[in-house]
Amino acid sequence: MPRPVSRRTFLGRAAGASLTLGLTRSAAAEQPSGATTAAASKTTTDWPVWDHRDETALIDVFRSGRWGRTAGGATKVKEFEAAWAQRMKARYCVATSSGTTALLTVFGALNIGPGDEVVLPPYTFVASFNAITTSYALPVFADTDAATFQIDPAKAAAAITTATKALLPVHIAGSPADLDALSALAKTRGITLIEDACQAPLAEWREHPVGTAGIAGCFSFQASKNLTAGEGGAILTNDESFANLCFDFHTPGGAKKSLSSGRGANFRLTEFQAALLLSQLTRLEVQAKLRDVNAAYLGELLRQIPGITPAALAAGCTRSAWHLYMFRYDATQFSGLARTKFIQLLAKERIGASTGYTSLNHASHVTALATNPHYQRLYGKTVMTNWLERNQCPVNDRIVAEAVWFPQTKLLASRSEMERIASVIATIQKRSGELVRS
Ligand SMILES: Cc1ncc(COP(=O)(O)O)c(C=O)c1O
Repeated sequence: MPRPVSRRTFLGRAAGASLTLGLTRSAAAEQPSGATTAAASKTTTDWPVWDHRDETALIDVFRSGRWGRTAGGATKVKEFEAAWAQRMKARYCVATSSGTTALLTVFGALNIGPGDEVVLPPYTFVASFNAITTSYALPVFADTDAATFQIDPAKAAAAITTATKALLPVHIAGSPADLDALSALAKTRGITLIEDACQAPLAEWREHPVGTAGIAGCFSFQASKNLTAGEGGAILTNDESFANLCFDFHTPGGAKKSLSSGRGANFRLTEFQAALLLSQLTRLEVQAKLRDVNAAYLGELLRQIPGITPAALAAGCTRSAWHLYMFRYDATQFSGLARTKFIQLLAKERIGASTGYTSLNHASHVTALATNPHYQRLYGKTVMTNWLERNQCPVNDRIVAEAVWFPQTKLLASRSEMERIASVIATIQKRSGELVRS
């Protein structure tokens, strides 16, 4: 068990830390995008982690000649589906080519389309939004909870109208949104709950893995994710007929298991990706345990520093996937030192960090929907103009302005690296008066 560190011990250590803040120049600090993203450092574990077992898994598929799940005798995608369903305590899994296509498949299976509204949080990757608009449904943003950075269930309730077909909470950073409140909300309002669990493999709500609180949960195995094959995705569900609908939607041809809505696509995972995922899966729990321990320790240390507030876990969260480590940076506690400067200083100490998401609801590629001719025709110009007003999320705007993220790879480093990170931040805070002028 990690030793607790008292505030005095930790801050005392920080004061004595020998740092090169502002004194050395590093490649990380000089990269052009340094204002928002600092480079990964040598102290960050390389990602992805692989060895000869992954190579063998890929070469075996290559030599078999069975490269896709529709090839006669192909087994890897099916094997992965069974393994992922079992690991996540779900009855059914349909593997897909990405997290986006997992979401598209779920929307397709539910026949969500023009005229339907889907409520989602603004604090998410644009892919959650894209999956809704690719289905020609109307995305409606519900503001963020200030403590957890997750969708605020009260705001989600207020965003529901008679046109709302689905509620799409996103377990951002791999930490579950409040599934008690959101499940109850979906039930009482008669709408479908879909979990965007793309960042949340192994995350748990009340000791049960996420993904099956509603009709389905969607996962991503894109390159940065905690479980990755470069690209890939999966849908989990406990409903057999819904699993059949998803299966049929995601693959054209072959014997159909369900009644079609006349829609479909090819969103299949390949046998190569499945073989790699099976091999990567053997490391997932060990890596997750390390992230659990390091995140808990880092949180304990960071909470002792004035102006640093780690994102809280919602009350029923019994495990985060820690895809990101997020905290709020209050510049007023750092003598007004700008967040971008703070991140540059971290980069000089080989601590890669970023400012995270910008406000999705204000992004030009999102607000463009209001003037999209298809949307204007489908929903009417007035609805689309009002849509911009409907999507105001002031709490989220504040979080976007204050957030700092570490990537999941940081949490695979050593315990002493957690101490070093906290110590560097504590030193920046103590010396902020002088650093703000440098
Ligand atoms: C919250 C969220 N939703 C959806 C996606 C889409 O997944 P993919 O990139 O595999 O399509 C991602 C991936 O980055 C994500 O982070």
